[in-house]
Amino acid sequence: MKFFDVFSRWNIEPVSALGCKVYDVDGNEYLDFYGGHAVISIGHSHPKYVVKLTEQLGKIGFYSNSVQIPLQDEYAEKLGKASGYPDYSVFMVNSGAEANENALKLASFYNQRNQVVAFRKSFHGRTSAAVRVTDNVNYQAPVNQNMEVVFLPWNDMDAVRNALKNKEVSSVIIEGIQGIGGIVIPDTQFMQELRQVCDETGTVLIVDEIQSGYGRSGKFFAHQHAAIRPDIITIAKGMGNGFPVAGMLISPKFTAVSGQLGTTFGGNHLACAAAIAVLDVMEEEQLVENAAKVGAYLINELKQLPQIKEVRGHGLMIGLEFSEPIKPLRDKLLFEQHVFTGVTGSCVFRLLPPLCLTKALADEFLVRLKSIL
Ligand SMILES: Cc1ncc(COP(=O)(O)O)c(C=O)c1O
Repeated sequence: MKFFDVFSRWNIEPVSALGCKVYDVDGNEYLDFYGGHAVISIGHSHPKYVVKLTEQLGKIGFYSNSVQIPLQDEYAEKLGKASGYPDYSVFMVNSGAEANENALKLASFYNQRNQVVAFRKSFHGRTSAAVRVTDNVNYQAPVNQNMEVVFLPWNDMDAVRNALKNKEVSSVIIEGIQGIGGIVIPDTQFMQELRQVCDETGTVLIVDEIQSGYGRSGKFFAHQHAAIRPDIITIAKGMGNGFPVAGMLISPKFTAVSGQLGTTFGGNHLACAAAIAVLDVMEEEQLVENAAKVGAYLINELKQLPQIKEVRGHGLMIGLEFSEPIKPLRDKLLFEQHVFTGVTGSCVFRLLPPLCLTKALADEFLVRLKSIL
């Protein structure tokens, strides 16, 4: 049997990794400024994470949600404390798309409405509802196209007010910072007014923090830069540092109705162990603060480079927009300088390094970047 080949892949085979470094089968060392798509939060193969997962596997790796799993309560308590949402609940699933899928459903169960507002250039995942609120028709199959969704321009409050005024919209879903859309930060005033108009119209506000959350922006959640509290927050990527785990933080205004949501794998023992290890290391090593500090330094240095048209971002979620397509630059960075980066569109680099990035490694990246500009 062959693997169903939907990915374009570089001809690089990583066989080990540590911290912000990845090593390939030929012994080459790479600087990881992509984090396996914003997934590596506390660093590759962090020793405490390895021990926690290994020990848990030695005890029990999995049982379904038909039994008591105190690790879930331990995780919920730690997440509440770390994120500033101790009064919310958490529901654990397996992927970002599934988290958004459940968020859209929970909102619709709650207010019994069936329309959704999303934003242009959004990306929310590949499952049925999540892909429908993703602004890319190429990802949608005919079976996905029936849900009622309106895509509005970014930061356009008049458009939002107009869409919500009839009180027929179930939820608004928005990324904390648009990732695949090009590292685009929503205006603070827009987020605050969005919160307000959702309250006025009984619309559920879902903030997708799958890429921008978990410390990446230099705050636990990117929406905290705008000092708002969404009704549902979706998380994945950095939450498990590579272990597939995702979830949603749910405001106390929602009542848990038995059987309304469900999952076989979500919140299993190993997933909880991974998620707990990540939060423990984030706290011990103050990684949110580190992302803010090293990110601010890096953004400032990048802004000095005249070849870059625009530098956008918060913390360690950084977009570098060029006037020309960047494929040749990206290839040079990867194959000559051995630096992994993300891209979006044809002209924007996405820098999403592990949150443990040091200033020294940020400097090393700058040297390698400058050498190919
Ligand atoms: C903002 C955002 N939402 C949702 C997803 C989907 O997550 P997953 O691939 O885990 O389903 C992604 C993945 O890139 C994302 O960046």
